[in-house]
Amino acid sequence: MKLQWSHCVLRVRDLDAMLEFYRDILGFQISDRGPLGPEGPEIVFLTTASTDHHQLALAATRDASEASSLDHVAFRVPSIAEVRSIFEVVSDDDRVSRVAPVTHGNAISVYFSDPEENSIEIFCDSPWHVAQPQIRGWDPRLTDEEVLASVREAFSDQPEFGPMDRYRAQAAKELKAK
Ligand SMILES: [Fe+2]
Repeated sequence: MKLQWSHCVLRVRDLDAMLEFYRDILGFQISDRGPLGPEGPEIVFLTTASTDHHQLALAATRDASEASSLDHVAFRVPSIAEVRSIFEVVSDDDRVSRVAPVTHGNAISVYFSDPEENSIEIFCDSPWHVAQPQIRGWDPRLTDEEVLASVREAFSDQPEFGPMDRYRAQAAKELKAK
């Protein structure tokens, strides 16, 4: 299995200051922002590349006492079959905890925690873009076609739902313009 590095999500204390820093110093641009659940804390998605909706996300979820800022690291794989096979492996492994099949509409993922409870996301792209953040479950017992149909059904009424290719072409133009 070949994993492609994709993104990490950091928990931050001062969202505005962190946002300013990553935009000023590294040239990140905001691709989306919104609350994590109804009236939840905000998450801001940042990228420098049209191929990735986000390469970094900052979530305003870190309290002063929390030692680690890392929420999760994420790797991309090419297919639902590979996400499912990782789901099966980690579900059967006693060292792993908090296994959760999750879809953000633009991705089909499995989240789990390593032996020291660092959270990992393994995902494949879905064929669609949808405004973020979004989070729902998906059923690994379904066939690939059924998974895609369920994702489409779950997100087609959400803002910006449309073909991923169109989103990436538009994102490439916007990133070049700045
Ligand atoms: Fe993620």
